[in-house]
Amino acid sequence: MIKDLVRPEIKKFVPYEANQVPYRIKLDANEGPFDLPVNIREKVAEFFLKGTDLNLYPDTDSIMLRKELASYWNVNYKEIVVGTGSDQLIQVIINVFVEKGDKVICPCPSFGMYKINTIIGGGTPVEILLKRENDFAYDIDEFIDVTKKEKAKVVFLCTPNNPTGGLISIEDIEKIATECKDTVIVVDEAYAEFSKETAVSLIYKYDNVVILRTFSKAYGLAGIRCGYSISCIEMAEEIRKVKPPYNISSLSQYIAKLVFEERKLIDDQIDYLIEQREYLVKELKTINDVHVFPSKANYILINIPDAQKVHETLMEKGILVRSFGKAPVLGDCIRISVGTKEQNDILLKELKNI
Ligand SMILES: Cc1ncc(COP(=O)(O)O)c(C=O)c1O
Repeated sequence: MIKDLVRPEIKKFVPYEANQVPYRIKLDANEGPFDLPVNIREKVAEFFLKGTDLNLYPDTDSIMLRKELASYWNVNYKEIVVGTGSDQLIQVIINVFVEKGDKVICPCPSFGMYKINTIIGGGTPVEILLKRENDFAYDIDEFIDVTKKEKAKVVFLCTPNNPTGGLISIEDIEKIATECKDTVIVVDEAYAEFSKETAVSLIYKYDNVVILRTFSKAYGLAGIRCGYSISCIEMAEEIRKVKPPYNISSLSQYIAKLVFEERKLIDDQIDYLIEQREYLVKELKTINDVHVFPSKANYILINIPDAQKVHETLMEKGILVRSFGKAPVLGDCIRISVGTKEQNDILLKELKNI
């Protein structure tokens, strides 16, 4: 039986399941609600018409894209590595640093791929619980204590944290980077465009800090699978050794660079979504029995009685949100991605009806 050949830790896994039901409004995966602007789509079409070189492998180093990103961040392009989504970089960073049995600190609840990739990589995840009564804030002293006690190789910090929405202050990130010099501090900023805070400047002071960013959320490009890391050159070189060659398709490199050049438009969309987040928070707070956790991201976590039933009723109406069912830390919680005003109003109306 093929199953007998599978590593024991992998046997316990289940394949990743995305919501595949038909829908009217999709607010379950923190994606952006906007399609690419027409002028950008036209440029992509022109790119195709000129001839695409799709018969050739793409630039394995994504040089043009890295240079564009570097000029924005005011860093050397060699300090940037591009991945097939920041997902790939999470996996690659673990593969660079984590040996069998090494400890990796994973906040909980947070992005599930930290733990999954740690196990796949042979490491041992050490979960630190974020407390609901504390609005799921990171207790950085606890993170420092556990990291030291476990001699952890890697710590994941997610800010704003997915799915809870809270921020970790730059001072706290700096504190853990200073106190835990023998640990790689991964700062996942997948949603940082919506908080307008970043720890990128820390890469000049701490060679153990690596920042992750993505085109999947604020840039509305989840479909091209593109993310990047920013760190000191030494760390970036190690990451480049392990990342698969030709990991970003030429089309994805082209679109990411193009959209990044048109940031002004994206900035307006971000400001709009931040406004909509505040509007949704205000309105959600008026609904009886709903507790709204503070959010600096493009999603909002709420606690609502019988969340699973609410989720199902919304789904019947064609509205997808993310429910955490009766999960221990997130019991009766629902995460709602911020949509357009029209989408948010439909959601609010249905929620109020329920
Ligand atoms: C916190 C966080 N990090 C990383 C990712 C991965 O993003 P991507 O691989 O699309 O760049 C996600 C996706 O949902 C996320 O929520």
